[in-house]
Amino acid sequence: MNERLKKDLDEMASILDKVKNQGISYLDHLQSHPTSNTNNINPQTSLPIDGWGAKNTLEYFNDTFEKIMVSSSGPKYWGFVTGGTTPASIAGDWLTAIYDQNAFKASGQGDVSSQIEMETILLLLDLFNLSKNLSGGLVSGATMSNLTCLATARQWIGKQQGKDYAKEGMNGSIHVLAALPHSSVLKAMALLGLGSVNITTIKTNHGNRESINLKDFEKKIRQLSGDPFILISSAGTVNTADFDDFEGISQLKKKFNFWWHIDAAFGGFASCSKSHRHLVNGWEYADSFTIDCHKWLNVPYENAIFLIKESYKILQVETFQNSNAPYLENELDTVDYLNLLPENSRRLKALPVWFSLLAYGKSGIQGMVDNSIEHAQSFGNWIENCPYFELLAPVRLNTVCFTLNDYSEELVTTFLSLLNETGKVFMSPTFYLEKKGIRAAFVNWRTTAEDVSEVIELMQNLIKKIS
Ligand SMILES: Cc1ncc(COP(=O)(O)O)c(C=O)c1O
Repeated sequence: MNERLKKDLDEMASILDKVKNQGISYLDHLQSHPTSNTNNINPQTSLPIDGWGAKNTLEYFNDTFEKIMVSSSGPKYWGFVTGGTTPASIAGDWLTAIYDQNAFKASGQGDVSSQIEMETILLLLDLFNLSKNLSGGLVSGATMSNLTCLATARQWIGKQQGKDYAKEGMNGSIHVLAALPHSSVLKAMALLGLGSVNITTIKTNHGNRESINLKDFEKKIRQLSGDPFILISSAGTVNTADFDDFEGISQLKKKFNFWWHIDAAFGGFASCSKSHRHLVNGWEYADSFTIDCHKWLNVPYENAIFLIKESYKILQVETFQNSNAPYLENELDTVDYLNLLPENSRRLKALPVWFSLLAYGKSGIQGMVDNSIEHAQSFGNWIENCPYFELLAPVRLNTVCFTLNDYSEELVTTFLSLLNETGKVFMSPTFYLEKKGIRAAFVNWRTTAEDVSEVIELMQNLIKKIS
């Protein structure tokens, strides 16, 4: 055994102690840690012949990277849709690395990882109040989840047309309809050979909405003259957290032959909130779902689920089967995850989710979701009533989309960059209603009313300075 490795093995306990203490100190100061950093490092380009050992490497990491780390899992990181990490999910994540299971098989001797994953999916179905006729798995994020669902949807279209696209390749046209799909959907379409520009765009509803206009949807369906198609709908658009009318779509599904996918990356968690669960009424009739766990469930990156109707499992197997590998004892009639999703070898992503679900239960997660909604609403109210800002859309859930009242694109850019430069809060830019806007997305379980007040004060001072 290499000398360094041997020494590290002997010192395993003290290495992990150091990491634990450093981790606790970081998490204890997350509140005051900067939310942005513009420092760059000079990357080293040559690998040392002899390694440094884990402790020296940790020291080097601390000197170089740790000090410029931003608190993206902290309470005032409101950029993109960035979740934090609950204590139980960190515990689960540590154990995931420690046990280092390869969660690709359900069958075989002694592998419990798939059982943990299946139990986790069942618990999530219960959390979202979705039917047990869905089965799912964990992937690295909503992008991969959208890809997995759309790959199965592509196979479904093939069946309607008497083709097997997974086997034969794409030699026909597939219709995809959507109003405002997330960019990750376009990426999935590009990867699947559907073509990212091949979307028939459905009009959105009038009155500052990002949701599908059902009349136009029906008109577009009729233009397809009975051809099967894929509908991509949204439970939470990324700019304004708008939801499609799922009850209306489910009525149309009774009349027309289509695969219905819902991108519910963050908005799926509306189902956990008593006051907001009406937003997903009717979603249970969809064929597939994308829900991110590293967003509102607040588990470490990379973590999302896909859910597909159990009755379509054969399509999943046709699409993802890892055939011709006898060494994997690969039996297609079992639910080995390697036959149901893109990856073969995979870490046990279920464990941090499983830990957080059981540690906090339905009421804990509902509390997390309601807390974010409350802060988004109070921040949105302030924006609406502040003469310096303009709310670009009503706060429907957890996202506040706004701009400056005295509008110019340059001023919005300057304001956002000065705000983020303070390192005390982080928001991200967008473009909405033909205006450059700013998005604050509330998904972190640690955010408090005091955090919101601090940011408001900061914004007031800054806007007065630059106006
Ligand atoms: C609605 C929606 N779909 C998909 C994604 C992509 O998610 P991920 O970055 O986890 O792949 C996001 C990310 O913000 C999102 O908001």
